[in-house]
Amino acid sequence: MSPTEPVRTVPALVVALDLPTLAAAEEMVSRLFPVTPWFKVGSVLFTAAGPAAVRMVQDAGGKVFLDLKFHDIPQTVSGAVAAAARLGVELISIHCAAGDAAMRAAAEASRGRGGRTRVLGITRLTSEAGRLTPAVVRSALAAQEAGLHGVVASARECAAIKAACGTGFVVLTPGIRPAGGAADDQRRTATPAQAVSAGADYLVVGRPIVGSPDPVAAAEALTAEIRAATSSVGRIMRERG
Ligand code: C5P
Repeated sequence: MSPTEPVRTVPALVVALDLPTLAAAEEMVSRLFPVTPWFKVGSVLFTAAGPAAVRMVQDAGGKVFLDLKFHDIPQTVSGAVAAAARLGVELISIHCAAGDAAMRAAAEASRGRGGRTRVLGITRLTSEAGRLTPAVVRSALAAQEAGLHGVVASARECAAIKAACGTGFVVLTPGIRPAGGAADDQRRTATPAQAVSAGADYLVVGRPIVGSPDPVAAAEALTAEIRAATSSVGRIMRERG
């Protein structure tokens, strides 16, 4: 290996724990960790179980993307981000549509907690159909300007976001489906290989794993596909922290 060969960070698989009870989520995490250390706690589980869901993942050794998609006035978004940061989560989401002032308030609230929690702006939902790349890139540039760490977008817009905002600007992509898998209610879907080659940093997968008869095998297959796609772009790889 040449010492000048670029090191590629393997994009992380984030399992969406869209499950109705804490017990169901705990059972899923106990099966999936450490095949994947990353879990998304969204509105389904958080409404049912609250911060206990976050603590359950952390106690198991996992990392949390708290996907509550805050969309409110700047003062409220700031307070919600500060509360989320106090839970010690790694990633949280707010809607870019909340506006520049709300995004700036969110960025500031996250910085106030020692800088561990990163805030991602939701551009457009992946359940929305259409050619949304220009609108998504505009949202990403606004999010970057406001001080957010990255955005949530479909893999279809990822390369354009990286070109506009730089490779260091985080892109997390939901709507990931194995080739030939059911799209469910998602519209702007992509396979893991497509998301990796577009430069995605985090790939969110819910139903293809948590709705599978064998969630561990499904997660292992997706992880293998992500690693294979990463190594085809660059041989030296390191795991995402
Ligand atoms: O089951 P599935 O893989 O479609 O789950 C995707 C997850 O990602 C869901 O929890 C959904 O709320 C979330 N999400 C999304 N599109 C966005 C942002 C988040 O699908 N733009």
